[in-house]
Amino acid sequence: MANNKLIVGNWKMNPETLFDAKRIATKTRNIAKSLTNIHVVVCPPFVFASAAVNRNKMDNYHLGAQTVSINENGPYTGEISATMLKSLDVEYVIVGHSEERAAGDTDEIVSKRLARAVDAGLTAVVCVGERSRDEEGSHLEFLKSQIKSTLANISADKAKKIILAYEPVWAVGAKEAMLPEQIYEMSLFVKKVFSDVFGQEIGMKVKVLYGGSVNFRNAEEIIKVGKVDGLLVGRESVNIPGFSELLKAVDAIK
Ligand code: PGA
Repeated sequence: MANNKLIVGNWKMNPETLFDAKRIATKTRNIAKSLTNIHVVVCPPFVFASAAVNRNKMDNYHLGAQTVSINENGPYTGEISATMLKSLDVEYVIVGHSEERAAGDTDEIVSKRLARAVDAGLTAVVCVGERSRDEEGSHLEFLKSQIKSTLANISADKAKKIILAYEPVWAVGAKEAMLPEQIYEMSLFVKKVFSDVFGQEIGMKVKVLYGGSVNFRNAEEIIKVGKVDGLLVGRESVNIPGFSELLKAVDAIK
C-alpha cells in the first residue's frame, strides 16, 4: 500500500435499502477505479456486505465491517464472527467505535473483538478517542489508558494488522472536525502510546487515521496539516457527491 492514503467509509446503519447499498457501493468502486493514490475501504452494515464486495478484485477498493463478535462460534444469537467475515471477503473491521463504546463496549470487550479480528487475519481499524478535553490534559491520560487496555491481548506479531483511528468523540457526528494542527499533535501522541506498547520499530510503522466530521471540504487540509495516513469517514461516505469529491481531493495530494 506504500504511502497511499487510506479512506475508510463507515456507513453505520445506512442506507435503508439493498437497492441504495448497491448504488452507493457501485459508485464508490467506480470512483476508486479512476484514482491511483488512495485505498478505499467500505464498511456497510453486515446485511449489505455482498452488495459492496470487491467484485472485480480491484487493488484499491476493499470491503470492511463495522464490528465483530468476541466469540469464535456457537450459541450467540445475532453475532457475526471474524471467520464469517473472512468468508465474505471482508478484509478490514472497525473495532471500538465510540458509538459501540457508548452502547456498552468496555476496553476489555474492544480488546477481545480486536484479538478475534487479527487472529482471523483481518486488518483492524481500532477507534480510540477522548470524550472531552480539558486544560489539565486529563484527556491524554484517558487516551493513553484506553489505547493500552485496548491493545492488552495483542502480541507484537499481530500488531501489523492494526490501524489506529483517532476519533475525538465530541467531533463524531458533529458540525466541525478537530483543527488540523491538533490532529497532528494527537496523531503523534497515539503513535507514541502504540510504540510504548509494541516498541519503536513497530510503532513507527503504524498507520493513524483521523475521524470525526470529515467531509469533502476539510479532508485535504486534515491530511496535509494533520499529517495522518488517512481518514475514517461517517456521514460523507454515504453521500456520493461529497464522498466522490473527498476521494478525488485526497488522491490529488502529492
Ligand atoms: P462522522 O462519523 O464522519 O459522521 O462524524 C465518523 C465516525 O463515526 O467514524
